[in-house]
Amino acid sequence: MTMERLTGRRALVTGAASGIGRATALRLASEGASVFCADIDALGAEQTAKAIDASGGKAKSGAIDVADLGSCEEGVERAAGSLDGLDLLANIAGILRPGHTLEQDASVFDLTISINLTGTFNMCRSALPKLLEGGGAIVNMASAAALQGVPYNAAYCASKAGVVGLTRSLASEYARREIRVNCICPGGVMTPMTQSGFPVEAPDANLMARIAPQMPKIGKPEDIAALVAYLASDEAGYMTGSAITIDGGQLA
Ligand SMILES: NC(=O)c1ccc[n+]([C@@H]2O[C@H](COP(=O)([O-])OP(=O)(O)OC[C@H]3O[C@@H](n4cnc5c(N)ncnc54)[C@H](O)[C@@H]3O)[C@@H](O)[C@H]2O)c1
Repeated sequence: MTMERLTGRRALVTGAASGIGRATALRLASEGASVFCADIDALGAEQTAKAIDASGGKAKSGAIDVADLGSCEEGVERAAGSLDGLDLLANIAGILRPGHTLEQDASVFDLTISINLTGTFNMCRSALPKLLEGGGAIVNMASAAALQGVPYNAAYCASKAGVVGLTRSLASEYARREIRVNCICPGGVMTPMTQSGFPVEAPDANLMARIAPQMPKIGKPEDIAALVAYLASDEAGYMTGSAITIDGGQLA
Protein backbone atom coordinates (compact mmCIF):
# COMPACT_ATOMS: atom_id res chain seq x y z
CA MET A 1 0.00 0.00 0.00
CA THR A 2 1.39 3.40 -0.92
CA MET A 3 0.26 6.19 1.38
CA GLU A 4 0.42 9.84 0.38
CA ARG A 5 0.59 11.34 3.86
CA LEU A 6 3.51 13.60 2.93
CA THR A 7 2.46 14.98 -0.44
CA GLY A 8 3.82 18.50 -0.86
CA ARG A 9 6.12 18.23 2.16
CA ARG A 10 9.80 19.13 1.84
CA ALA A 11 12.16 16.97 3.88
CA LEU A 12 15.84 17.04 4.75
CA VAL A 13 17.29 13.68 5.85
CA THR A 14 20.82 13.35 7.27
CA GLY A 15 22.68 10.06 7.16
CA ALA A 16 20.83 9.43 3.89
CA ALA A 17 23.70 7.52 2.26
CA SER A 18 23.25 4.35 4.30
CA GLY A 19 21.12 2.18 6.55
CA ILE A 20 18.23 3.83 8.40
CA GLY A 21 18.82 7.25 6.80
CA ARG A 22 18.68 5.81 3.30
CA ALA A 23 15.52 3.82 4.12
CA THR A 24 13.98 6.98 5.63
CA ALA A 25 14.70 9.09 2.54
CA LEU A 26 13.15 6.39 0.32
CA ARG A 27 10.11 6.03 2.60
CA LEU A 28 9.41 9.78 2.89
CA ALA A 29 9.67 10.10 -0.89
CA SER A 30 7.36 7.11 -1.42
CA GLU A 31 4.77 8.94 0.69
CA GLY A 32 4.97 12.01 -1.52
CA ALA A 33 7.65 14.21 0.09
CA SER A 34 10.40 15.83 -1.92
CA VAL A 35 13.62 14.91 -0.14
CA PHE A 36 17.06 16.46 0.22
CA CYS A 37 19.42 13.54 0.93
CA ALA A 38 22.36 14.75 3.03
CA ASP A 39 25.40 12.88 4.29
CA ILE A 40 29.10 13.41 4.86
CA ASP A 41 29.31 10.73 2.14
CA ALA A 42 28.19 12.90 -0.79
CA LEU A 43 28.35 10.07 -3.33
CA GLY A 44 26.22 7.79 -1.17
CA ALA A 45 23.66 10.56 -0.67
CA GLU A 46 23.57 11.13 -4.42
CA GLN A 47 22.94 7.42 -5.00
CA THR A 48 19.97 7.50 -2.62
CA ALA A 49 18.59 10.56 -4.45
CA LYS A 50 19.02 8.74 -7.77
CA ALA A 51 17.15 5.71 -6.41
CA ILE A 52 14.28 8.03 -5.41
CA ASP A 53 14.29 9.66 -8.86
CA ALA A 54 14.29 6.22 -10.51
CA SER A 55 11.20 5.20 -8.56
CA GLY A 56 9.33 8.35 -9.63
CA GLY A 57 9.98 10.47 -6.54
CA LYS A 58 11.57 13.89 -6.15
CA ALA A 59 15.03 14.19 -4.58
CA LYS A 60 18.17 16.29 -4.39
CA SER A 61 21.36 15.57 -2.54
CA GLY A 62 24.39 17.25 -1.01
CA ALA A 63 27.21 16.89 1.49
CA ILE A 64 26.66 17.98 5.09
CA ASP A 65 29.02 17.30 7.99
CA VAL A 66 26.62 17.49 10.93
CA ALA A 67 29.50 18.06 13.37
CA ASP A 68 30.23 21.40 11.68
CA LEU A 69 27.61 24.11 12.33
CA GLY A 70 28.68 26.09 9.25
CA SER A 71 28.23 23.02 7.05
CA CYS A 72 24.75 22.47 8.54
CA GLU A 73 23.71 26.09 7.96
CA GLU A 74 24.98 26.04 4.41
CA GLY A 75 23.39 22.61 3.76
CA VAL A 76 20.00 23.73 5.08
CA GLU A 77 20.13 26.82 2.83
CA ARG A 78 20.93 24.59 -0.16
CA ALA A 79 18.19 22.11 0.74
CA ALA A 80 15.54 24.78 1.30
CA GLY A 81 16.65 26.52 -1.90
CA SER A 82 16.37 23.39 -4.02
CA LEU A 83 13.09 22.18 -2.43
CA ASP A 84 11.56 25.69 -2.20
CA GLY A 85 11.28 25.57 1.61
CA LEU A 86 11.47 23.03 4.40
CA ASP A 87 8.79 21.24 6.48
CA LEU A 88 10.52 18.15 7.85
CA LEU A 89 13.94 17.37 9.31
CA ALA A 90 15.03 13.79 10.01
CA ASN A 91 18.33 13.69 11.92
CA ILE A 92 19.56 10.16 11.29
CA ALA A 93 23.34 10.59 10.87
CA GLY A 94 25.38 8.95 13.61
CA ILE A 95 28.38 6.83 14.52
CA LEU A 96 29.06 3.95 16.90
CA ARG A 97 32.59 3.37 18.22
CA PRO A 98 32.51 0.67 20.93
CA GLY A 99 35.54 0.23 23.15
CA HIS A 100 36.78 -0.43 26.67
CA THR A 101 36.34 2.81 28.57
CA LEU A 102 39.88 2.80 29.98
CA GLU A 103 41.57 1.61 26.77
CA GLN A 104 39.85 3.63 24.07
CA ASP A 105 41.44 6.95 23.16
CA ALA A 106 39.57 9.71 24.99
CA SER A 107 39.10 11.60 21.71
CA VAL A 108 36.48 8.99 20.67
CA PHE A 109 34.15 10.38 23.34
CA ASP A 110 34.34 13.90 21.87
CA LEU A 111 33.97 12.61 18.32
CA THR A 112 30.87 10.59 19.19
CA ILE A 113 29.27 13.51 21.04
CA SER A 114 30.18 15.93 18.23
CA ILE A 115 28.36 13.85 15.59
CA ASN A 116 25.51 12.17 17.47
CA LEU A 117 24.53 14.95 19.88
CA THR A 118 26.08 18.26 18.80
CA GLY A 119 25.38 17.23 15.19
CA THR A 120 21.68 16.79 15.97
CA PHE A 121 21.64 20.17 17.72
CA ASN A 122 23.50 21.83 14.82
CA MET A 123 20.93 20.56 12.33
CA CYS A 124 17.94 21.56 14.51
CA ARG A 125 19.38 25.03 15.06
CA SER A 126 20.09 25.50 11.35
CA ALA A 127 16.69 24.22 10.18
CA LEU A 128 14.40 25.81 12.79
CA PRO A 129 14.21 29.23 11.09
CA LYS A 130 12.97 27.50 7.89
CA LEU A 131 10.56 25.21 9.77
CA LEU A 132 9.12 28.19 11.65
CA GLU A 133 8.05 29.79 8.37
CA GLY A 134 5.13 27.37 7.99
CA GLY A 135 5.32 24.89 10.87
CA GLY A 136 6.93 21.49 10.68
CA ALA A 137 8.31 18.40 12.33
CA ILE A 138 11.70 17.18 13.49
CA VAL A 139 12.47 13.49 14.05
CA ASN A 140 15.74 12.75 15.85
CA MET A 141 17.45 9.37 16.04
CA ALA A 142 18.25 8.33 19.59
CA SER A 143 18.62 4.65 20.53
CA ALA A 144 17.58 2.01 23.03
CA ALA A 145 21.11 2.71 24.29
CA ALA A 146 19.77 6.05 25.57
CA LEU A 147 17.58 4.13 28.02
CA GLN A 148 19.73 1.10 28.85
CA GLY A 149 23.33 0.70 29.97
CA VAL A 150 25.25 -0.96 27.14
CA PRO A 151 28.77 -2.04 28.16
CA TYR A 152 31.69 -0.69 26.13
CA ASN A 153 29.53 2.14 24.76
CA ALA A 154 29.86 5.00 27.25
CA ALA A 155 30.12 7.70 24.57
CA TYR A 156 27.32 6.29 22.43
CA CYS A 157 24.93 5.85 25.39
CA ALA A 158 25.72 9.36 26.64
CA SER A 159 25.25 10.91 23.19
CA LYS A 160 21.90 9.21 22.64
CA ALA A 161 20.61 10.07 26.12
CA GLY A 162 21.54 13.63 25.20
CA VAL A 163 19.44 13.38 22.04
CA VAL A 164 16.42 12.47 24.18
CA GLY A 165 16.99 15.51 26.41
CA LEU A 166 17.57 17.80 23.42
CA THR A 167 14.37 16.52 21.80
CA ARG A 168 12.27 17.16 24.90
CA SER A 169 13.69 20.62 25.41
CA LEU A 170 13.08 21.71 21.81
CA ALA A 171 9.59 20.15 21.87
CA SER A 172 8.59 22.22 24.89
CA GLU A 173 10.21 25.39 23.54
CA TYR A 174 8.47 25.19 20.15
CA ALA A 175 5.17 23.43 21.00
CA ARG A 176 3.19 26.66 20.65
CA ARG A 177 4.89 27.56 17.39
CA GLU A 178 3.68 24.59 15.31
CA ILE A 179 6.92 22.63 15.45
CA ARG A 180 6.77 19.05 16.72
CA VAL A 181 10.00 17.38 17.87
CA ASN A 182 10.15 13.65 18.64
CA CYS A 183 12.87 11.02 18.78
CA ILE A 184 13.07 7.32 18.13
CA CYS A 185 14.92 4.74 20.25
CA PRO A 186 15.56 1.72 18.04
CA GLY A 187 16.97 -1.56 19.30
CA GLY A 188 19.33 -3.52 17.06
CA VAL A 189 18.83 -2.81 13.35
CA MET A 190 20.68 -4.58 10.56
CA THR A 191 22.76 -1.85 8.85
CA PRO A 192 26.44 -1.32 8.02
CA MET A 193 26.79 0.11 11.55
CA THR A 194 25.92 -3.22 13.13
CA GLN A 195 26.94 -5.71 10.45
CA SER A 196 30.53 -5.83 11.62
CA GLY A 197 29.36 -7.51 14.85
CA PHE A 198 30.68 -6.24 18.19
CA PRO A 199 34.24 -5.07 17.55
CA VAL A 200 35.60 -5.03 21.09
CA GLU A 201 38.50 -7.24 22.07
CA ALA A 202 37.95 -9.59 24.99
CA PRO A 203 34.51 -8.38 26.10
CA ASP A 204 33.40 -9.59 29.53
CA ALA A 205 30.92 -12.38 28.77
CA ASN A 206 28.91 -11.65 31.92
CA LEU A 207 28.44 -8.03 30.91
CA MET A 208 27.49 -8.99 27.37
CA ALA A 209 25.00 -11.54 28.72
CA ARG A 210 23.09 -8.69 30.37
CA ILE A 211 22.25 -7.37 26.91
CA ALA A 212 22.17 -10.44 24.66
CA PRO A 213 19.04 -12.20 25.97
CA GLN A 214 17.16 -8.92 25.71
CA MET A 215 17.69 -8.79 21.95
CA PRO A 216 15.12 -11.31 20.77
CA LYS A 217 15.35 -10.14 17.18
CA ILE A 218 17.00 -7.58 14.94
CA GLY A 219 15.05 -5.00 12.97
CA LYS A 220 15.25 -3.76 9.39
CA PRO A 221 15.99 -0.14 8.41
CA GLU A 222 12.52 -0.03 6.84
CA ASP A 223 10.91 -0.76 10.23
CA ILE A 224 12.43 2.43 11.62
CA ALA A 225 11.76 4.46 8.46
CA ALA A 226 8.05 3.66 8.77
CA LEU A 227 8.00 5.21 12.25
CA VAL A 228 9.88 8.30 11.03
CA ALA A 229 7.24 8.74 8.30
CA TYR A 230 4.42 8.46 10.83
CA LEU A 231 6.02 11.01 13.17
CA ALA A 232 6.61 13.35 10.23
CA SER A 233 2.98 13.13 9.15
CA ASP A 234 -0.10 14.97 10.42
CA GLU A 235 -1.33 11.67 11.88
CA ALA A 236 1.16 12.33 14.69
CA GLY A 237 -0.17 15.86 15.15
CA TYR A 238 -0.68 15.40 18.91
CA MET A 239 2.78 13.92 19.47
CA THR A 240 5.72 16.04 20.52
CA GLY A 241 8.52 15.53 23.03
CA SER A 242 8.18 11.74 22.81
CA ALA A 243 11.00 9.20 22.84
CA ILE A 244 9.57 6.10 21.22
CA THR A 245 11.15 2.66 21.54
CA ILE A 246 11.00 0.34 18.54
CA ASP A 247 13.06 -2.65 19.49
CA GLY A 248 11.37 -6.01 19.03
CA GLY A 249 10.95 -6.26 22.79
CA GLN A 250 14.54 -5.45 23.81
CA LEU A 251 13.47 -3.05 26.57
CA ALA A 252 10.21 -4.86 27.39
N1 LIG B 1 21.70 0.20 13.45
C1 LIG B 1 21.27 0.16 14.71
O1 LIG B 1 21.19 -0.93 15.34
C2 LIG B 1 20.84 1.42 15.39
C3 LIG B 1 20.13 1.30 16.60
C4 LIG B 1 19.75 2.47 17.26
C5 LIG B 1 20.03 3.70 16.72
N2 LIG B 1 20.72 3.77 15.54
C6 LIG B 1 20.99 5.11 15.01
O2 LIG B 1 20.44 5.23 13.73
C7 LIG B 1 21.20 6.16 12.96
C8 LIG B 1 21.58 5.54 11.62
O3 LIG B 1 22.39 4.40 11.88
P1 LIG B 1 22.62 3.25 10.80
O4 LIG B 1 22.58 1.98 11.57
O5 LIG B 1 21.76 3.46 9.63
O6 LIG B 1 24.16 3.51 10.47
P2 LIG B 1 24.96 3.65 9.08
O7 LIG B 1 26.39 3.58 9.48
O8 LIG B 1 24.44 2.66 8.10
O9 LIG B 1 24.60 5.11 8.59
C9 LIG B 1 25.05 6.26 9.26
C10 LIG B 1 25.21 7.36 8.24
O10 LIG B 1 25.60 8.56 8.93
C11 LIG B 1 26.58 9.20 8.12
N3 LIG B 1 27.43 10.09 8.91
C12 LIG B 1 28.39 9.75 9.81
N4 LIG B 1 29.01 10.85 10.28
C13 LIG B 1 28.43 11.92 9.68
C14 LIG B 1 28.62 13.32 9.76
N5 LIG B 1 29.56 13.85 10.54
N6 LIG B 1 27.82 14.12 9.01
C15 LIG B 1 26.87 13.60 8.19
N7 LIG B 1 26.66 12.27 8.06
C16 LIG B 1 27.42 11.43 8.81
C17 LIG B 1 27.38 8.06 7.51
O11 LIG B 1 28.13 8.47 6.38
C18 LIG B 1 26.28 7.06 7.19
O12 LIG B 1 25.77 7.25 5.88
C19 LIG B 1 22.40 6.53 13.82
O13 LIG B 1 22.13 7.76 14.49
C20 LIG B 1 22.47 5.39 14.82
O14 LIG B 1 23.12 5.77 16.02
C21 LIG B 1 21.12 2.67 14.86
